[in-house]
Amino acid sequence: MQNTAIQVRDLQKSYKKLNVLKGVNFSVEQGSIFALLGSNGAGKTTLVKILTTLLKQDGGTAIVNGFDVASQPDHVRQAISLTGQFAAVDEMLTGQENLIMIARLRRLKQPRQVADELLTRFGLIDAANRRASTYSGGMRRRLDLAMSLVGTPPILFLDEPTTGLDPEARIEMWKVVKELADGGITVFLTTQYLDEAEQLADRIAILHEGKIIASGTLAELKQLFPPAQKEYVEKQPTLEEIFLAIIGKKEEH
Ligand SMILES: Nc1ncnc2c1ncn2[C@@H]1O[C@H](COP(=O)(O)OP(=O)(O)OP(=O)(O)O)[C@@H](O)[C@H]1O
Ligand SMILES: [Mg+2]
Repeated sequence: MQNTAIQVRDLQKSYKKLNVLKGVNFSVEQGSIFALLGSNGAGKTTLVKILTTLLKQDGGTAIVNGFDVASQPDHVRQAISLTGQFAAVDEMLTGQENLIMIARLRRLKQPRQVADELLTRFGLIDAANRRASTYSGGMRRRLDLAMSLVGTPPILFLDEPTTGLDPEARIEMWKVVKELADGGITVFLTTQYLDEAEQLADRIAILHEGKIIASGTLAELKQLFPPAQKEYVEKQPTLEEIFLAIIGKKEEH
C-alpha cells in the first residue's frame, strides 16, 4: 500500500534565463486536499504542468500515483485529471455534448449515462441542452470540473479553480471539492486566495521566489506567526497575516 499520492523532490524549471522553480519539495497524502499558495507568476501553473506531464522539468523528480512524470508519463496520465486555469469547455457545444465528447475520448462504455450522472451531480441537468456559451462563469467552472471527473481519476489537479467566480459560486465550488475529497479523491489545487486554502486544504504550501518557503497544516502555519502579535490573544492570525509575515521575513534578508 502506498499512501503518498504526489512526491516532489528538488524540482527545477527555468524558461530561458527566468528561473521559476529553484528546488521545490513537498508531498501530498492520498485522499487529502493540498493547496499550493502563491502570488501571480510564482510558478504555480508551471508546477501543475510538470505534475500533469504537460511540461518537462529541468531537474529533480516528481512521482504521481507511484509513477515518475518524466519517465512514465502515460501511467501518470491515466491516474490524473486536470482542470486548467482557463476553462476547457467548448462554447459551441451544450453541457451534455461537452461531457459526452470527453467520455468518448476516454473510451467509456456509456458516454450519455456518464454525462447525465455528472450533470445531475453538478446541478447542471436543467441546462444540459443549452450551449455552454450561455452558461454563467460558475456554471462553466462546474462543467469544467465535471469534465475532468469523467472516468473518475484518483488524483485531481485544479489550477486556480475559483478565480473569476462570484462569492456564491466560490462557496459552491468549495463544497464540491470537499465532497470529492471525502469520496477519496486526492485534490491538488493552486490558489492566490488565502481564504480558499484556509477553507479547503488539509495541508498548505507557500511557493515564493522559486521555493516552498513554508508548509504544513493551517495550525502549523499559524505557529510560524511572529510572537509579537500574541498580545491580541482573542484574535487568531489569518492565513493572510501569516503569508505576509513569512514573505516579509524572507524579503528582509
Ligand atoms: N512558456 C513560458 N515561457 C516563458 N516564461 C514563462 C512561460 N510560462 C510561464 N512563464 C513565466 O514563468 C513565471 C511563472 O509563471 P506561472 O504561469 O507558472 O505562474 P503562476 O503562479 O501560475 O501565476 P498566475 O497566478 O498568474 O497564474 C512567470 O513569470 C511567467 O511569466
Ligand atoms: Mg497560473
